[in-house]
Amino acid sequence: MAREVASIRRRVSRALGYINWLYNPFQRLDVVGVYDLLATSSATASGLYLNLGYWRAAQDLDAASQDLAMLVAETARMGRGDRVLDVGFGFADQDILWARRLHPERIIGLNITASQVEVAQRRVAELGLAERIDLRQGSATRMQLAPESIDKVVALECAFHFRTRERFFREAWRVLRPGGRLVAADIIPMPRVRGWIGRLQQWLSWGLVSSKFAIPPENAYVRSSYQDKLALAGFEEIRVESIREQVYAPLHQYLGGHPDTLRRLHPAARLAARIALRFDAASVYRGLDYVLASGIKPG
Ligand SMILES: C[S@@+](CC[C@H](N)C(=O)[O-])C[C@H]1O[C@@H](n2cnc3c(N)ncnc32)[C@H](O)[C@@H]1O
Repeated sequence: MAREVASIRRRVSRALGYINWLYNPFQRLDVVGVYDLLATSSATASGLYLNLGYWRAAQDLDAASQDLAMLVAETARMGRGDRVLDVGFGFADQDILWARRLHPERIIGLNITASQVEVAQRRVAELGLAERIDLRQGSATRMQLAPESIDKVVALECAFHFRTRERFFREAWRVLRPGGRLVAADIIPMPRVRGWIGRLQQWLSWGLVSSKFAIPPENAYVRSSYQDKLALAGFEEIRVESIREQVYAPLHQYLGGHPDTLRRLHPAARLAARIALRFDAASVYRGLDYVLASGIKPG
């Protein structure tokens, strides 16, 4: 009986937490608060990915999430013998994928959310991969890692959260060996469009996403500034390419056609997603760019 009461209490408090977070315009959660609330309710069917996916060839969300992870790894030229640092690893699905497919020597993961680290460490140990994937609680902006100890730093849909992204760039540069690569799949604002309706849509979409998903205002800059900040941190051969056409609209279309996917989300989050699906993708995502960014530490 006591257990049932405790379980009901937990469910009510989670529902209230969701409602307050999503529907109270004055409510802001910090990064850990957001991911503790989301817990393991990923929309993917077989994994626990928390990204929007890369939809060039993918037919479902699981495949799209994996394709985004592989796009980041391929851009980093990840392969045998690499010492990889994966920041913001969520539940480590991409680390498991890379370890199996690409065989880097070692992957170190840094994630600020302790509840995710615990689940991810358990998953990796159960798969017998703990020797090759070393998951730690820690911040991408203050890495407890030796200088020049890493070949590839990757950030799969997470650098927008960091306080700040620029500090992360400097830390990535410090821990990379000369010739090492940084790759990020990242969310930034779109350059301003003309006309007040377009501007209003941009303001709403960036405002909602940044306030609800703990994106600090210091990280709100467009593609050209992103490139400048990588250069300022010391990177060369910089590329910041928009892949937004392969992310937002196809995801929106997929979710519209597969409402069952949303059933895996908390009912309060499902309602918010259903409201967004009533509008066309162009207006919902007007303020959001999605970039694949990369640079090399010279030497
Ligand atoms: C949108 S999720 C992406 C998770 C995973 N990369 C994926 O694609 O499924 C963002 C992740 O960034 C992590 N994160 C946010 N701020 C961080 C920081 N300063 N240092 C390390 N991880 C951070 C969160 O805990 C969360 O795991």
